[in-house]
Amino acid sequence: EKGGYEHFMLKEIFEQPKSIHDTMRGRLLVDEGVIKMAGIWDHVEKFKNANRIIIIACGTSWHAGLIGEYLIEEYARIPVEVEYASEFRYRNPIITDKDVVIAISQSGETADTMAALKLAKEKGAFIYGICNVVDSSIARITDAGSYTHAGPEIGVASTKAFTAQLTILTLIAFKLGKHNGTLDNTSFMSLIAELDLIPKKIEEVLSTTHELVKNISKDFVKSTNFLYLGRGYNYPAALEGALKLKEISYIHAEGYPAAEMKHGPIALIDENMPIVIIAPKKGHYDKIVSNVQEIKARKGKLIAVVNKGDQQVSEMADYVIEIPETSECFSPILASVPLQLLAYYIAVYRGANVDQPRNLAKSVTVE
Ligand code: F6R
Repeated sequence: EKGGYEHFMLKEIFEQPKSIHDTMRGRLLVDEGVIKMAGIWDHVEKFKNANRIIIIACGTSWHAGLIGEYLIEEYARIPVEVEYASEFRYRNPIITDKDVVIAISQSGETADTMAALKLAKEKGAFIYGICNVVDSSIARITDAGSYTHAGPEIGVASTKAFTAQLTILTLIAFKLGKHNGTLDNTSFMSLIAELDLIPKKIEEVLSTTHELVKNISKDFVKSTNFLYLGRGYNYPAALEGALKLKEISYIHAEGYPAAEMKHGPIALIDENMPIVIIAPKKGHYDKIVSNVQEIKARKGKLIAVVNKGDQQVSEMADYVIEIPETSECFSPILASVPLQLLAYYIAVYRGANVDQPRNLAKSVTVE
C-alpha cells in the first residue's frame, strides 16, 4: 500500500503533482477562463460583503491559513485574520453575522477547530470548511465548503494535504478577486494559466531535487538546531518547513520572517547553525540578499532554495536547491517540496519513525 516507497510520507510527497491536479480538477477551467467552486459561488455575496474573513486552524493547516491571508488580501482585497483555533475559542473573540469564518483541517476532526467553529456559528458567522476527509465532523457542521481532493493522508506529518489546502485557498482568492473586480481579467487569466502548470513544476522539483536533498540531509544528521527563513508568501512556508523538521526528526527548528532575524535570532547564528532560506527571484529578493549577507558574516551554514540560474544568493550559500520560477503567490507550493524531503531524509538518517513520530497523532480529537 506504500506503492514501493519506504514510508507513507515519501509516497505522499511524491503524490503531490497528482493531489494538486485532483484538487483543481473540475474547478480550474483554464480554456474557459473560469474557476468553478459551488461552495463559494452560492455564497459569493456573503464573502464579498464580509467585514472580514477569519481563518482558524491548527498546526500545518494554520500555516496554510497564513498563506491564505496573503492570497485573499492581495487578490480579493477582503480583510483576513488568521488565528489558532485554540486561542480563538478561549479569548472571547468579537464575532458577528458579518464575519465569514473559514476552518482549515485535513482530518476534519480537530477538537479545537471544531469547538472554535461552533462558537463562531453560535455568534451568527457564516462558517466555511476546507477539509480533506469527506463527511468529517467539520465538513458536516459548516454551512458550506470545498474539499481538498488530496486523497487519504496516512503519514502523521502533513504534506500533500498542505499543498492541496494552498491550492484551494488560491482558487478561492482568485475566484473572489475576479467577482469583486479587484483582480483584473488579464491578471486573472495569466495567474490561472500559471496555476495550471504547478503540478508539472512539482514533478520537475521532485525529479531534480530528490537525490540532491537526500545527500544534503546526511550533513545535518547531528544538528541540534535549525532556523528557517522566508519573506512574504514564503514566511509561512518557512514556519511549515521548521514544523516538518521538528515533528519527525526531533531537531529543534524555528521559522521566522527573514527580516525578524535581527530582532533576536541572529544572536544564535554561528558556524554550527544551519539556516534554510527560501529566496525565489519574485518576492523581496534584494531584501533576502542582505539577510543572507548578515548570515554569512556570522558563518551560518546556509541551505538556499532559489530559482534556477540564481546567482547572488547561490554564491553565498553552502547548499543550493533550485526550483522553477513561478508567480510569487505559488512559490510556497514549490518551495515546500524540497523542505518536506529535507525533513524526511534527516529523520530517516536519524533512525526516526517518520510515519508515526513519538507523541503525535494524525487527528487530534482532544484539546
Ligand atoms: C503537522 C500536522 C499537524 C496538523 C494539525 C491540524 O504535520 O499534521 O500540525 O496539521 O494537527 O490537523 P488538521 O488539519 O487535521 O485539523
